[in-house]
Amino acid sequence: MEFEEIKVRSYDGSLDRARLELLERRCEVGPSHVFLFSDTMGDPICRIRNSPLYIMLVAELNHELVGAIQGSIKVVTLKDLAKVGYILGLRVSPFHRRKGIGSSLVHHLEEWFVGNQVDYAYMATEKDNNASVNLFVNKLQYVKFRTPAILIHPVKSRPLKISSKVEIFKINEENAEYLYRRFMGLTEFFPADIDKVLGNKLSLGTWVACERGEHAQFGQNGNFPSNWAMLSVWNSGGLFKLRIGKAPVSCLMYSEVSKVIDKAFACFNMPTLLCSLFEPFGFYFLYGVHQEGEVSRKMVRALCRYVHNMARVDVDCKMVVTELGRYDERVRPHIPHWRMLSCLEDLWCIKALKSEHIESVNELTRIPQTKPLFVDPREV
Ligand SMILES: CC(C)(COP(=O)(O)OP(=O)(O)OC[C@H]1O[C@@H](n2cnc3c(N)ncnc32)[C@H](O)[C@@H]1OP(=O)(O)O)[C@@H](O)C(=O)NCCC(=O)NCCS
Repeated sequence: MEFEEIKVRSYDGSLDRARLELLERRCEVGPSHVFLFSDTMGDPICRIRNSPLYIMLVAELNHELVGAIQGSIKVVTLKDLAKVGYILGLRVSPFHRRKGIGSSLVHHLEEWFVGNQVDYAYMATEKDNNASVNLFVNKLQYVKFRTPAILIHPVKSRPLKISSKVEIFKINEENAEYLYRRFMGLTEFFPADIDKVLGNKLSLGTWVACERGEHAQFGQNGNFPSNWAMLSVWNSGGLFKLRIGKAPVSCLMYSEVSKVIDKAFACFNMPTLLCSLFEPFGFYFLYGVHQEGEVSRKMVRALCRYVHNMARVDVDCKMVVTELGRYDERVRPHIPHWRMLSCLEDLWCIKALKSEHIESVNELTRIPQTKPLFVDPREV
């Protein structure tokens, strides 16, 4: 009998594109109560394309495409500055699981990381994705590292009210870069190339909120008001779309009821998403959410509402999404989101790829998170 051999190689668009889309459609990923499918609109590497250095590998078994993985490399703040490799988009055909294909893809990607002098590899998964957690943690020596929350807010048909006491203004890329480096430069996973992120065409801008009347003095001579907040917006829908594959019964019922109510009583503020639950839709990702001062949470809320109202006029955008580390739990209630759609414990795992960093990983995982986490919109 002839043994089947797994062959791992780089992705080749002309050979693999259609087969990869089929694979993606077959693999369900997401919270156990909601399956989110991503539609890459004919570009399977769209999720890594904006990173400084990236690769996609595919696995073949008897000339059949049975698995894929993507990786990107960048420099971030960790303990000090570190080169990190992010693992994403790991998929193995449901007909070929438990044959070592997933492990083999990760090994090949780690080799590429090592060849590019990467210090640490990391990945994110649903905490209850047993296959993925077992693979990375039990089999491949990754360690559980952070558990940020992914907060999802469907866009409603009516604008949200913004406090008249708060003033919101847009700042240019240069000022945004200055503020991020000054106030978030030491944040975990803060990207050294923040200027590239802010300058990307998918980044729609950076907004600041402060008390009304304080705008004119904001940042003058390096001085800032006691309470203010900022965030940036990334148009993820410009890269790929999402589609809900499975939703809780309550959500489905709400969807049906909302259609009727929305038609009959326009005054009800129904999420527009729920009127078209299973069609592909775009979303905005809020990144670089930062606040200064004891009462700045209301500034965060005002900014989120402002972005929601922006999203309302973008016909493609049906959700506003953000991801926050544990440390930012205090602001979580002020970020509008639906628990039903959100994932309150995403799991990040990390592995040192150089022996001298093993102790640093132990340290990072031992210490409770004392700093905010920067979630790079290029990795969403
Ligand atoms: C997760 C996934 C990539 C694993 O691929 P795979 O080719 O089956 O993985 P491997 O055969 O290399 O498995 C290696 C180890 O992972 C763990 N594992 C894999 N599938 C598992 C499952 N269904 N349940 C529990 N553990 C599992 C086991 O420890 C396994 O070792 P073992 O077979 O010696 O017990 C695959 O299940 C998949 O594509 N899932 C859907 C997409 C997804 O969730 N991707 C991960 C996003 S981060």
